[in-house]
Amino acid sequence: MTSMNIATGSTPRRFSRILGVGSYRPGRVVDNEEICRLIDSDPEWIEARSGIFTRHFADAGETIPAMGARAAEKALSAAGTHPADLSCVVLATMSYLHQAPPAAAACAAELGTHGAAAFDLGAACAGFSHGLAVANSLVTSGQAEHVLVVGSERMSDIVDPRDRSTAFIFGDGAGAAVVGPADEPGIGPTVWGTDTEGLHAIEQSRSFTELRDDPLARWPFLEMAGATVFRWAIGAVAEVCAQAAEAAGVPLRDIAAFVPHQANVRIIDAAVKTMGLSPSVAVARTVREDGNVSGASVPLALDTLTAGGRIRPGDLVLTAGFGSGLGYSAQVLLAP
Ligand code: UT7
Repeated sequence: MTSMNIATGSTPRRFSRILGVGSYRPGRVVDNEEICRLIDSDPEWIEARSGIFTRHFADAGETIPAMGARAAEKALSAAGTHPADLSCVVLATMSYLHQAPPAAAACAAELGTHGAAAFDLGAACAGFSHGLAVANSLVTSGQAEHVLVVGSERMSDIVDPRDRSTAFIFGDGAGAAVVGPADEPGIGPTVWGTDTEGLHAIEQSRSFTELRDDPLARWPFLEMAGATVFRWAIGAVAEVCAQAAEAAGVPLRDIAAFVPHQANVRIIDAAVKTMGLSPSVAVARTVREDGNVSGASVPLALDTLTAGGRIRPGDLVLTAGFGSGLGYSAQVLLAP
């Protein structure tokens, strides 16, 4: 079976699906040796504990709207659509340091959309998956025709290069997907939520107002209780993904590809094992080259597997985002 079996009742329904994906990686590749110049660590420890070998860091011109626009241009082209076709741009990010204009509006301007609604979505590493849920609702309700969902991050702006618990994990980049109308379900029901018991496990414990009031105060870098998040993710990711597959009416044996948020290879491998996914399933492990790109990691991984031919048109793809909050969302997608 290669389709979703979602109960629709007797009312005729409009469906949505991803029509095209694209991604953008900054030019500068940073290896573990370079990271270890500023922290007490070694490349072998980083590789063994996280699976990460390299990540990309953006330069000054590689802004969040600009990287998002480059990824979006590829997604629009893959979808056979144009900026003028977009009714809405949703940009998921946790690292945009400007409040106005919204990153989504700046991205829309760079793309040359014709009056598309544009807003930012703040759900950290679950942002893109939350964005797909929003896009699916907008298209299936008739509120929008084509929605661009972008994840774009400059984690290097909010991560302390001298903090050994976070410096090696995060990277920069962007990914995008065009969501449009479809004849059959292409985005399964989203299983999502927030486990607020872990509210402070990934946080900026200091605020920008503190910095305004005291110029000598520390920059409000991202802090993470890594082991706490790791333990939570090991249990939560497989559970939420299995629920998403069930909600879509898709047995796990019919999944062709697994594209979870790229935080740590050990978390991905544990989820594969717990769900008992077949060795024939294409599993995204782009965290090895990209690090953890937060809200951009799922579309970056989706595009990488699609471009490499490991995800083929019509494949059922199980995907999930998870991170600060602790928030999560998972859904089954029909590959474009
Ligand atoms: O994207 C949002 C979701 N985020 C995640 O899912 C991240 C989840 N967490 C993780 O991926 C892992 O917790 C890390 C990769 C961040 C860390 O791996 P870990 O196996 O959980 O390490 P740990 O924090 O439990 O530390 C183990 C040991 C400690 O030493 P002792 O107490 O055992 O002597 C740390 O001090 O490793 C030490 N350590 C380091 N050693 C070398 C911590 N950081 C480093 C380091 N280099 N950078």
